[in-house]
Amino acid sequence: MRLEGKSAIVTGAGSGIGKATACRFAAEGATVICAELNRDSNEATVAEIRAAGGRAEAVETDVTRDEDVANLMARSFSAVERVDILINNAGQAVIGTVEEVSSDDWDRQLDVNLKSIYRLSKAIWPHFKTRGGGIILNTASIAGLTGIPGQVSYGVSKAGAVMITKCMALDGAKDNIRVNCVCPGWIPTPMVDYHLSQLDDPEAFQTRIERLHPLGLGEAAHIAAGFVFLASDEARWITGIALPIDGGLTCGIAAD
Ligand SMILES: NC(=O)c1ccc[n+]([C@@H]2O[C@H](COP(=O)([O-])OP(=O)(O)OC[C@H]3O[C@@H](n4cnc5c(N)ncnc54)[C@H](O)[C@@H]3O)[C@@H](O)[C@H]2O)c1
Repeated sequence: MRLEGKSAIVTGAGSGIGKATACRFAAEGATVICAELNRDSNEATVAEIRAAGGRAEAVETDVTRDEDVANLMARSFSAVERVDILINNAGQAVIGTVEEVSSDDWDRQLDVNLKSIYRLSKAIWPHFKTRGGGIILNTASIAGLTGIPGQVSYGVSKAGAVMITKCMALDGAKDNIRVNCVCPGWIPTPMVDYHLSQLDDPEAFQTRIERLHPLGLGEAAHIAAGFVFLASDEARWITGIALPIDGGLTCGIAAD
């Protein structure tokens, strides 16, 4: 087991990539604090981890609320002696062009996907400094590396996630705080299902998306595997990277 004796906070642990990551971290021996807006789905993840013999706690958390983040930290430190890893994964996708996205939706998108990374990282930073280091991992996106039509606020939030990763990596290095992010390609999750449900011809869109990934569509487990590596001691000299896990999508233009 690669994370035996470690503890990790995972946000958005009730669904998709966050759930897969929480379950994989527990299977690798970590104690996982599952932080999620949706109480029922969060408790379901914790129940699944415990049923498999792992260790996990559920803390209902809205990552856009300072008081929830303070409560998450307090509950985490009462559950485990020290937190080794913070995974900022919770997110949502606001679809639309600059003409279509409302001012409120823009603010909400940036708050959930980007300011939350600042908020949680700031909350855990003093703990990491005191105990001689720590690891912050963020879920960015290929949408933060390259423009995607009709995703202006989402793309900006994810480009911000890439840049806050690099800036925090530089600032944290002297205190042995490593910060990295992953940039997933298209992964079938409830977020994506919702996106597809809004389209006139979801099947045509799905086919087009599949063709963009030379290795075919990915799974949440592929992203969880990247997080395990970045959280492990094998990645101890890696900081500030934005790791595409995208089946080759960002290599270039796929034939066909
Ligand atoms: N699925 C993809 O194709 C894809 C690609 C690139 C990046 N991502 C990113 O991966 C992350 C996870 O997305 P997913 O695809 O697993 O979606 P998902 O909808 O399955 O999971 C997102 C989870 O975040 C939670 N959440 C949303 N707002 C929250 C808040 N304010 N506080 C706490 N929890 C909140 C949701 O309740 C949900 O459980 C997101 O940051 C997303 O942008 C997804």
